[in-house]
Amino acid sequence: MQEAGRVVALTLRQMIDYARPGMTTRELDEYGRELLSTYGATSAPQRDYDFPGATCISLNHEVCHGIPSENKVLQEGDLINIDVSAELHGYYGDNGCSFILGHDHRGLQPLVDASRQILYEAIRHIRGGVRIAEVGGIMEREALRRGYQVIRNICGHGIGRRLHEDPREIPCFRDRDNRERFRKNSVIALETFISTKARYVHESDDGWTLVTNDRSYVCQHEHTLIVTDDLPIILTRENGI
Ligand code: CO
Ligand code: CO
Repeated sequence: MQEAGRVVALTLRQMIDYARPGMTTRELDEYGRELLSTYGATSAPQRDYDFPGATCISLNHEVCHGIPSENKVLQEGDLINIDVSAELHGYYGDNGCSFILGHDHRGLQPLVDASRQILYEAIRHIRGGVRIAEVGGIMEREALRRGYQVIRNICGHGIGRRLHEDPREIPCFRDRDNRERFRKNSVIALETFISTKARYVHESDDGWTLVTNDRSYVCQHEHTLIVTDDLPIILTRENGI
């Protein structure tokens, strides 16, 4: 799990650094695919879900699961989310990051910063025995305190021998029906979905990309973690997010 985490983290970092205005999201994805292959890893969304790309690249009003495309050209000021998950020697790692490409002419940097800060705030509260709903409540509270919302129908998840394992849902809101607790020595992918307004996402016509119906901007940051009885161990820290 440590090696898988390191490989997806290094790939995400290198893709963020490689992104330039004028490049298509297909070119950026090809770069990611080559990196994963150099590390001996295979794309998790392709392997587990037949996703039409090696990584998910979502631009501006796209929230996540964006399909890399030769028709999508990166521009200065774009809000970009890259999510890299992969399998290495039978184990999976998963991480993601939203960032602004170059000059922030839409003024979205505070949203990006909030999402990253909320991820680390949530990580600080995760221990074996803590309720999943409690950590979701912390993410929701921190978003609302900054004037944002959280997306309620996409979630973090357990990870290990597959991309998505139990617990199936680690929401970023206080889900009162969720009675589950984090278990010591389990591995999870914790993700934020911090939104300017909308609280739900919908599938778009391409069958993959998730979008809001009011063109909200949404930021996501994600780490793979080992739950302990103290602070979690971050397996994807090499992404430097
Ligand atoms: Co991910
Ligand atoms: Co994930």
